Amino acid sequence: FKKIVIALDGYSACGKSTTAKQAASILGYRYIDTGAMYRAVTLYFLENHVALTNQREVEKALVNINVSFKVNSKNVTETFLNGLNVEKEIRKMRVSENVSQVSAIKEVRSAMVEQQRKMGKEKAVVLDGRDIGTVVFPNAELKLFMTADMLVRAFRRQKELLEKDQLVDLDEVIQNIQQRDKIDTTRAESPLRQADDAIVIDTTHITVEEQVDEVVRLALSKI
Ligand code: C5P
Repeated sequence: FKKIVIALDGYSACGKSTTAKQAASILGYRYIDTGAMYRAVTLYFLENHVALTNQREVEKALVNINVSFKVNSKNVTETFLNGLNVEKEIRKMRVSENVSQVSAIKEVRSAMVEQQRKMGKEKAVVLDGRDIGTVVFPNAELKLFMTADMLVRAFRRQKELLEKDQLVDLDEVIQNIQQRDKIDTTRAESPLRQADDAIVIDTTHITVEEQVDEVVRLALSKI
């Protein structure tokens, strides 16, 4: 089998990571959650009171940040920031509310993109994010772009948060998704956009299983 890079981009809360994770597991591929990397950087910035507009401070902080992934005993990939498991912390609203501002910073992006390219060098990977098919791996063999109706996305995200013991108002979830989409699509540095050769998957009316099947089917046609 040929090893390929699968780039899965799209708006916030469309089911990218759920789909990418499961498709990667079926294909025996590695899954890289690039959003988790930006979330971990955001957590570090928040905890260390890094001033986002101070380039020197940002650069200094980035030198001290090491984000990595480890698979736990339940076969779930977890995110580590400087050796500390931050998987739970990075999914909280506090991080969601600040991550798009942090990920719009040029220096943050170049540091993360460099690391993502290293992680995907050997191929056989599924990466999900916002700029994978356009910037990180513009030559990816399979590019997908996920979208879904706002309300469906918000309900799904709210349920996901609830499963993690976080009760968040639907309005707050909608506001956060809309705000992130706006910042992500309008930023100067590698804004979120659909690559010309990406295949669109609208997840509004389909189940997770159907999403995964579709990704696996498309991947197999390239392998
Ligand atoms: O994928 P997730 O929703 O966890 O990503 C969190 C945020 O990280 C996004 O809203 C976006 O601001 C940023 N991000 C990015 N580029 C990526 C992945 C995520 O800018 N490749």
